[in-house]
Amino acid sequence: MEHLKYVIPNIDHEKQAKAYIAEHHQYNSQIHGSGGLNRYIDNYPAWLTKIEQERHPEPNEARVPTDTYYLVREEDNYIVGMVNIRHCLNKKLADCGGHIGYGIRPTERQKGYNKINLYLALLRCQEIGLKEVYLDCESNNPGSYKTMEALGGIRIKEYYQENYSNNIYRYIIYVDNAIETYHQEYEPKILRR
Ligand SMILES: CC(C)(COP(=O)(O)OP(=O)(O)OC[C@H]1O[C@@H](n2cnc3c(N)ncnc32)[C@H](O)[C@@H]1OP(=O)(O)O)[C@@H](O)C(=O)NCCC(=O)NCCS
Repeated sequence: MEHLKYVIPNIDHEKQAKAYIAEHHQYNSQIHGSGGLNRYIDNYPAWLTKIEQERHPEPNEARVPTDTYYLVREEDNYIVGMVNIRHCLNKKLADCGGHIGYGIRPTERQKGYNKINLYLALLRCQEIGLKEVYLDCESNNPGSYKTMEALGGIRIKEYYQENYSNNIYRYIIYVDNAIETYHQEYEPKILRR
């Protein structure tokens, strides 16, 4: 069985990281959960500095503490996805964005990897002490909202947000409850940091 784990990005991943972003461009895919890696693709060391600083800022309206991880398949050390985990919400994220942003590279989709990604994210949220998390996605993104529902997500509202062509669904996940409910299914598929 394959195992997935979170890895803190470092300089050794530069080549793989560039290929990860290039693959999204090749498939004309949206990029989520990358902590802005696509904008720093020509200066990977600067991106590493940025995400390291984002781990520990004082929360303010511009920035909240955020973890960015690669989702790595242990067996071949391959980056299959990414995640952003926000330790708290500012007004902007409370309005739209929520605690967790995620993505899986185009060629590795529909293999169940994002459900494992979200399970790992919830473990990290539990470590941080979050009891409930909010997640948002566009109503035309079943891969995203079905991931949330598969981990116990409850849709609590649908709203219009400027700059999006579809309505946004907001979900809540009760962290301890989700981990307790789904640990038997997902623990065999993960490695802890
Ligand atoms: C959304 C995304 C993360 C899903 O990743 P994934 O690894 O394919 O998801 P999984 O294989 O774990 O599947 C999760 C659920 O979504 C369903 N699903 C996945 N892709 C789907 C699609 N294109 N259409 C319909 N359902 C889909 C799966 O069947 C599964 O549901 P199930 O448990 O009821 O069977 C991926 O498509 C992606 O990275 N998209 C671009 C970035 C993005 O949209 N991020 C989310 C922003 S809110």
